[in-house]
Amino acid sequence: MDKQDVILCKELAGELTRAIAQCPHDKLFLLTDEHTHELCLPLLKEIEAVKDAVEVVIGAEDVNKNIETLCKVWMALSTQGASRKSLLVNLGGGMVTDLGGFAASTFKRGIAYINIPTTLLAMVDAAVGGKTGINFNGLKNEVGCFSPARSVLLETEFLRTLDHHNFFSGYAEMLKHGLISNSQHLNELLAFDTQEIDYTKLKLLVGESVQVKERIVEEDPYEQGIRKALNLGHTVGHAFESLALAQERPVLHGYAVAWGLVCELYLSYVQVGFPKEVLSQVIQFVRCNYGPFLFDCKQYDTLYELMKHDKKNCGGAINFTLLKGIGEIELNQHAEQKLIYETFDFFRESMGV
Ligand code: GLY
Repeated sequence: MDKQDVILCKELAGELTRAIAQCPHDKLFLLTDEHTHELCLPLLKEIEAVKDAVEVVIGAEDVNKNIETLCKVWMALSTQGASRKSLLVNLGGGMVTDLGGFAASTFKRGIAYINIPTTLLAMVDAAVGGKTGINFNGLKNEVGCFSPARSVLLETEFLRTLDHHNFFSGYAEMLKHGLISNSQHLNELLAFDTQEIDYTKLKLLVGESVQVKERIVEEDPYEQGIRKALNLGHTVGHAFESLALAQERPVLHGYAVAWGLVCELYLSYVQVGFPKEVLSQVIQFVRCNYGPFLFDCKQYDTLYELMKHDKKNCGGAINFTLLKGIGEIELNQHAEQKLIYETFDFFRESMGV
């Protein structure tokens, strides 16, 4: 997979102009959703390089990350004269960068694209690393491909208008990057004042966080080995997310990941000796900032079944990424059903449920 340029912007106008100039093209398309069209596009309007871009606007949120919206983007490209030499700029959260990246990667067998993520989650995770796709048949990111953006431009000024829940949703992926990298970075994240956000400090943390992901993706772009480290917290997290969705009380992805981290660090403690004091610090942070995820023992079987159907599994066994210590990654771990149910008990107790 080609390496992406991931740029922590000092000045978006200049950096976007340069990124566009590095992709010679006959026609420029600009994809937004109805929120980023209103809130973020005005910041790009003065930039000469995007003045003549053909705008494509899609519905916002995960419910629109589907084949119908994808067709709408393909149709806009097709009817408005896109060729194999055209360029697409995706401006939005993970839904826009995933779907836009997939539209670009499949249109005429692939045109170049640039991501400008506007949420914290997209900046530190979704828009970086070349995973593109849509939801299908009720399953998240069921259809997609690995295909990197030419450039990913991180403009943290967009974060100033992010709501509280979307801030914490992205922050969970940053915590994960802290856990799989080193204690200095993790401690900075745990100590960061999330109530009175210092945006200059946040920008530095975003830069460090995205580098953790970049290093891993560079080593293993197609998730054959070490990229699975990025799945920490996600095996249980996805089950929580799916249960919440089935019960018509959807939760943001990062909230499910934060709760999943607590469970998988407990599993790490029991199975491979992850330090108890770090587990306690993470529990404290998650309880204070994310609150509990409510469920009772009647839902344990459903959660377990959901975990068994996770697309990361192989040969029927539930696959976990665990940690022996901060940055000490243990891939392809398994746990007995009894221990997984004990983990749910532990989670509920530690969240005060
Ligand atoms: N979001 C995990 C990955 O990109 O591999």
